[in-house]
Amino acid sequence: MRGIVSRVVRGVLISVSVMAGGLHSLGGLSFGHENHPTQMPDPQQTVAFRTYLMENVGANAKEMKGKIDAGKLEEAKMNAAAIALHSTRIAALFPEGSSGDSSRAKEEIWQHWDAFLASATELGTEANALTVAAGENNATSVKEHMQKMFGTCKSCHDQFRKPEE
Ligand code: HEC
Repeated sequence: MRGIVSRVVRGVLISVSVMAGGLHSLGGLSFGHENHPTQMPDPQQTVAFRTYLMENVGANAKEMKGKIDAGKLEEAKMNAAAIALHSTRIAALFPEGSSGDSSRAKEEIWQHWDAFLASATELGTEANALTVAAGENNATSVKEHMQKMFGTCKSCHDQFRKPEE
């Protein structure tokens, strides 16, 4: 499984790292919109559930960056670990054809499924590497993986998420 996944990932690594190069802050990311659900939606409601999951990824990413900027690497570890865990659910939360009015998912997701999957895998790889680096209190490595991790958010959103209305 890992072997196949990492082979797929390598194909998109170049484009992802090029995009990540310019991303030093959260400037290009939005962390949610007005209609936040107050509790976890039914996991069977695919779009509502994955939006909730993604917003939690966003909340963790924001909190994580704040802690890292403040030098609190150990505390950032659990946010990174949560993002890594969430990333493993992305594939199952985008069944074919699950776009529609309430969703910002683009049709390109299913036209380029391998690239979408590779992007989700890369998010997990970077978030997990960040978790390890934070646990080791290695600031250089933390920053490197943080930049790469935010690169995967941006790259996936640019390719596969419709602009906000
Ligand atoms: C594999 C692709 C992919 C990756 C990687 C990814 N996202 Fe997303 N994200 C999406 C898609 C697609 C949607 C829209 C889902 C929908 O509306 O059905 C979304 C939605 C969101 C939302 C919900 C709010 C909104 O307006 O749509 C937030 C917040 C978000 N992502 C933050 C992040 C952050 C932060 C990261 C990185 C730490 C990240 N995402 C990584 C694909 C991705």
